[in-house]
Amino acid sequence: MPEINTIGVLTGGGDCPGLNAVIRGVVRSALGKGMTVKGIQNGFQGLVEDMVVTMRDKDVAGILPRGGTILGTTNRDNPFHYRVEENGKYVFRNMTDRILENLKGNNIQALVMIGGDGTHAVGLELGKIGVKVIGVPKTIDNDIPCTERTFGFDSAVGVASWALDRLHTTAESHHRVMILEVMGRYAGWIALHAGMAGGADVILIPEIPFSMEVIVRKIRDRVERGKTFSIVVVAEGALPIGGEMTVKRIVEDSPEKIRLGGVGEKLAMEIEKRTEIESRCTVLGHLQRGGTPTAYDRVLATRYGVAAVDCIVRGEFGRMVALQKNQITSVPIADVVGKPHNVPADDQLVLAGRAIGVCFGDE
Ligand code: F6P
Repeated sequence: MPEINTIGVLTGGGDCPGLNAVIRGVVRSALGKGMTVKGIQNGFQGLVEDMVVTMRDKDVAGILPRGGTILGTTNRDNPFHYRVEENGKYVFRNMTDRILENLKGNNIQALVMIGGDGTHAVGLELGKIGVKVIGVPKTIDNDIPCTERTFGFDSAVGVASWALDRLHTTAESHHRVMILEVMGRYAGWIALHAGMAGGADVILIPEIPFSMEVIVRKIRDRVERGKTFSIVVVAEGALPIGGEMTVKRIVEDSPEKIRLGGVGEKLAMEIEKRTEIESRCTVLGHLQRGGTPTAYDRVLATRYGVAAVDCIVRGEFGRMVALQKNQITSVPIADVVGKPHNVPADDQLVLAGRAIGVCFGDE
């Protein structure tokens, strides 16, 4: 196998704290090994449209604490089902030829893709047409299997717990039920960890469907014990027993067609109606994805970036770098794509929560 001397790097999917730290790790480590690094802008769009820049050491200087991605990203483009305008109409085309042409034109022999499950699904297909890919698990949701942590999760949990500390103030002063709706898609990791860190009384996650009666009983019990306020953390994907998740919007041209959201406001209205305690909902939204990464995420992201280049040097492709038993390793991308990583019902943190009286809406 000829030695690889030029690699590409792209960020795909939603932005996330730590993306720049990975880019920096990839660029610095690859340059140190005598490679050339090409940055592909705006995710897979850049691969199709040939938006490629050469990355030098000075391009990554000072980006470690910066949120977002200096390369740009999108969570809409799939190069195998790519939206193009033809004769005034949008149609979807497979852009395989353009991808291969652009990789060849830029002499990119291996590609580091930093992204979530959508990005890795595309990576799997790229592997099938002969592209040498290495994935890096990114997402605030922590919903990628085969790795203990995705980078970005710790930062999102930090923001959500910060928000809970502040909501406590109003809850206590006004004797209210304050509800915080957090992101996470179909997984409850952010709600669980932030709820535990922020001292929530009720934590609602998609993995444990809730009963309104149980939630109301918990809030009333607290009142009887002299606690005139309650804090509820609800994951955007949380759902009532026998019910459905709350969809906020349909995004037709995105691989992930729906965006969740709105369950928190529904809860606030229902809790207020049933308990007659004033209730308010705060939706944390994209604040969880923005801003500077935590120290933990900077370190993890840097380790992932360096490990991705190490995989390339060893000639290991079609793999995603991963954290297992706190050691960096790699796993086949095929083991990751389309597989959920949800909170198990007997997760130690769920059990710890139950042990200290946190209500998960089910009992
Ligand atoms: O996957 C990250 C995430 O922030 C989810 O938690 C959330 O459901 C979704 O992306 C929001 O996507 P968008 O930025 O397109 O609204």
